[in-house]
Parts: sequence; C-alpha cells; structure tokens
Amino acid sequence: MTTTTLAQATTVAQRRSAELEDLIDRDAAAFRILTGDRPTGQLHLGHYFGTLRNRVRLQDLGAEVFVLIADYQVLTDRDTAEHLDEYVTGLVLDYLAIGLDPARTVIFAHSAVPALNQLLLPFLSLVSVPELNRNPTVKDEIAHSRQASVSGLMLTYPVHQAADILFCRANLVPVGQDQLPHLEITRVIARRFSERYGPVFPVPDALLSAAPLLLGTDGTKMSKSRGNTIPLSATADETARLIRGAQTDSERHISYDPADRPAVSSLVLLAALALDRDPREVAAGVGGGGAAALKQLVATAVNDLLAPVRARRAEYERDLGYVRQVLRDGNQRASEIAAATLAEVRTAMGMTY
Ligand code: TRP
Repeated sequence: MTTTTLAQATTVAQRRSAELEDLIDRDAAAFRILTGDRPTGQLHLGHYFGTLRNRVRLQDLGAEVFVLIADYQVLTDRDTAEHLDEYVTGLVLDYLAIGLDPARTVIFAHSAVPALNQLLLPFLSLVSVPELNRNPTVKDEIAHSRQASVSGLMLTYPVHQAADILFCRANLVPVGQDQLPHLEITRVIARRFSERYGPVFPVPDALLSAAPLLLGTDGTKMSKSRGNTIPLSATADETARLIRGAQTDSERHISYDPADRPAVSSLVLLAALALDRDPREVAAGVGGGGAAALKQLVATAVNDLLAPVRARRAEYERDLGYVRQVLRDGNQRASEIAAATLAEVRTAMGMTY
C-alpha cells in the first residue's frame, strides 16, 4: 500500500466504522471483538482515551470482548523482551482497574495459547513474500528499528496477528489507523482460506476509533519508548508533577489551535477529554490565566477522572494472586476456543489422521 492508498483505506474504514457503530447500538451481542496490546511498558493516558475506555464501552454494551496481551509481538523490533512479567501484570491490573470484567471479557496472552500459534503455519502459506514486504506499518517499524537486521518475525507478525484475530472468529477489531494494513492481511487470509479449504473464518471489520492525538509531556507523540507519558498507574501527585513539567509555549493567552500550538492544545484536549467538554470552551475558560492555570485545570480533571481507577488498581495490587488467576482463566478459555478452531482448520485441510 502506498501512502495514498493508506489514506483511501482510512476513509473507507471510517465510513464503515460509522455503519458498524449503528449496528453495535442496535445489537452489540452480535459482535465478537478482539483487541490487544504489546507488553512493552505501562499503559498511559493516550491508551486510555484512544482505546481502553472504548473496550469498556463495548463490553458494557453487551459485545463479547477478547483482550490479547501480545507478548510474542514484543520481539519484532528487539532481541529480547525485558520486564515481561512486570508489564504483563501491569496490563492486567490496568484492565481490571478501568472496568474490564473477566466474567464477560477474556483477557489472555497469545504465548499461552498453543493452538492459536499453530494457525500461523497454514496462514503463512496463504500470503506472498511481496505482500509481506509491502506492509506500510511494518516498513515504518523497520525504518525506526535499531536492530542491525530485520528478523523473520518482524516481517511475518501481521500474519500472526491474523491468528490472534481469527482463532476466536472475531468479527470486529477496534484499531488505530496504523493497524489497518494488518487487518487487511487478516481479511485476505480469511477469504483465501475459504476459497482454498472452505468457510471456517468470518472476514472481520476494523472499527476505527477517532483516537485523539495526545502529545507527551515533551510536546512530541506520547509513546512508551520516549518516556514522555502520563502512566495510568502514576499517583495523583506524580500526575500533577508530570503535567506541571509539560511543555507549553511563550504566548500567555490559552487557545485551542492544534496546528500552530500543538503542545498547549494537547493539554487543552487532555482537560477536555477528562471533563467531557469541548476543547475550545475549555481554552476560552482558561484564557488569560496562562499555562499555570491550564496545567492546574488539567491535573485536577485527570486526577478526578482517575481517582476511582486508581482506587481499584490499588485493591487489585493487594491481591496479585487473583490477578494472575484472571490471566490463567483467560488463557484457558482462549485455549479451548483455539483448539476447537484448529480442529476445524485441520479437518478443512484434510489433516485428520
Ligand atoms: N499490533 C498491535 C499493537 O502494536 C497489538 C496487537 C497484536 C493486536 N495482535 C492484535 C491488535 C490483534 C489488534 C488485534 O498495538
């Protein structure tokens, strides 16, 4: 996909997503949803407003939700996965704290689901090397990788991601724009499998959420690897301190102007998201109060919003045995589903001896 076709794919996915939102409103239970995170660090406010609260919304509307911890996928752009245990536990804590309910939502790690991983083999046979080489998100990740050479996993992980999605026959995948090429490969694999062997998999849709572009405290993209995030697990004091240290600009009057004043506008947007208000109104309310007043407003808004999340997180932190059990139960449930799917795949392929 070239840049233009990625833009076109985004427009198509946006239109389709609006239709899907209508269908979800009418009958959320018709959807099996799969989303996931790489355990490469702590989840932060960008994740919260971009995807996490959307998962809780979909769960609460009655959709069946699967949340994947994509631990193998950590190894795409680095040789070893550091602090896996800590990050995986942190993810589960955050999921529980924001309101994902393990009675309704399956939380699992793909490394713990052998039959899911085995789907990678037939799926690899359904895609060509040029198709893998063309993936714009993978190309971008290769360009930014600090590794001396590209690993086989980097090139093929989108196919593994298809296994993440198709093992449970998810029909809806909430994603950001960068994941659209991976979802396209998943759709291609589902269709080709049906053509060659018969219908086993649905062709899943992307649900593109209008993820707000929050910048980090240094005024660049908020990202785990840049160390400029506000983690969900931060205390109220740490959060206030991080926000006080955030970059602004020299103009005193606060306005919402993302193109010309990205850092200030990102803080305004953060307050607006936390308060569920319009960013222009928030900016007008601060006006001549300047950056200090804006930061005070942001810190209070974020801390008020996160207070109940933090309280729940602290409770679960005192019961890590329960947290581990949630993951083990999720792994078990995912494994049962994956084994049933793999059995169907092997039957369809004539591999039952
Ligand atoms: N690639 C996703 C990310 O980097 C994580 C992921 C792995 C995923 N498997 C998935 C997302 C399946 C959606 C569906 O954030």
